[in-house]
Amino acid sequence: MSNGKKADSQTVYFRSADFPSGGFLPKNQVRIAPNDRGFMFADGLYEVVRSYGGRFFGFAEHLARLRHSLAEVGIDFPEIGELPGIAQELVRRNGLETVAAVTYIQLTRGLCERRYPFPTPPVVPTLYIEVNRLLSAAAEAEQGIAAITVPDIRWSRCDIKWLGLLPNVLARQRAVAQGANEAIFVRDGVVTEGTHTNVFGVKAGVVLTHPRDHHILAGITRAQVIQLCRALRLPVEERPILQAELAGLDELFLTSTTGEITPVVVLDSKPVGRGRPGSLTQQLQRAFRGLISSLSQGD
Ligand code: PDD
Repeated sequence: MSNGKKADSQTVYFRSADFPSGGFLPKNQVRIAPNDRGFMFADGLYEVVRSYGGRFFGFAEHLARLRHSLAEVGIDFPEIGELPGIAQELVRRNGLETVAAVTYIQLTRGLCERRYPFPTPPVVPTLYIEVNRLLSAAAEAEQGIAAITVPDIRWSRCDIKWLGLLPNVLARQRAVAQGANEAIFVRDGVVTEGTHTNVFGVKAGVVLTHPRDHHILAGITRAQVIQLCRALRLPVEERPILQAELAGLDELFLTSTTGEITPVVVLDSKPVGRGRPGSLTQQLQRAFRGLISSLSQGD
């Protein structure tokens, strides 16, 4: 992801205790204080939203998820309703109205001395937003990718879109070091999700994915794919996929804001199904592209 602009020409949005009015500014003028709780404790949240031709996909759902994350960690952010307008303006100011782009929104509990309890009274949350061009993942979407399985060593509140991503970073690095693209977490013999993706399997014509609970992020793309399955009358079950079932799956695919629907064709160095993207996966990819083109045509 990069819009190819240097930091001094990329416009971002920033608001903090040091700059409470907030505003649009060149990226290299943003000053994050060392005592920001995001820096000290990873005490913050984030969202990633995509847009196609300047139109956002599922912003309302991303805001609902952010509201959930905010409530769960006790950060008060009444200005949440301003986010779509700011993101839209960033798309415009960065000349990304005609391309696919991703908006990254980060919020931390704010700036105060390093103490574990929340600051009292609460401080202004730090808000940082940038928009970048979404580089095409067409090759991965068409040919599929390789993935590995790794133990899910994360905490048990993965439903919160929390900044603390070290287990995800380490797992993805392990995948990359092994020549794969994504790592899929397994907790107590159950496939939960990928480092930045939700996981779907297909067995005997049934689409399977982990139920929504505290062990996965409720992906916006995941929900859209489940809806597409229902519209296409493909049987879909939200139930745990066991690690022991993986070798017998006909198809495996990942969903995320940045990767949309990505087939997994090799898992732990062995082919998945026939070792190429499966027909149900491709059907869902076509339906998903249809949603996106109707969005860019303003339907
Ligand atoms: N990742 N699971 C995890 C752990 C994620 O971080 C993400 C999103 C998803 C997919 O959710 P969605 O469909 O709403 O993007 C599942 C974002 C894109 C990221 O961290 O870059």
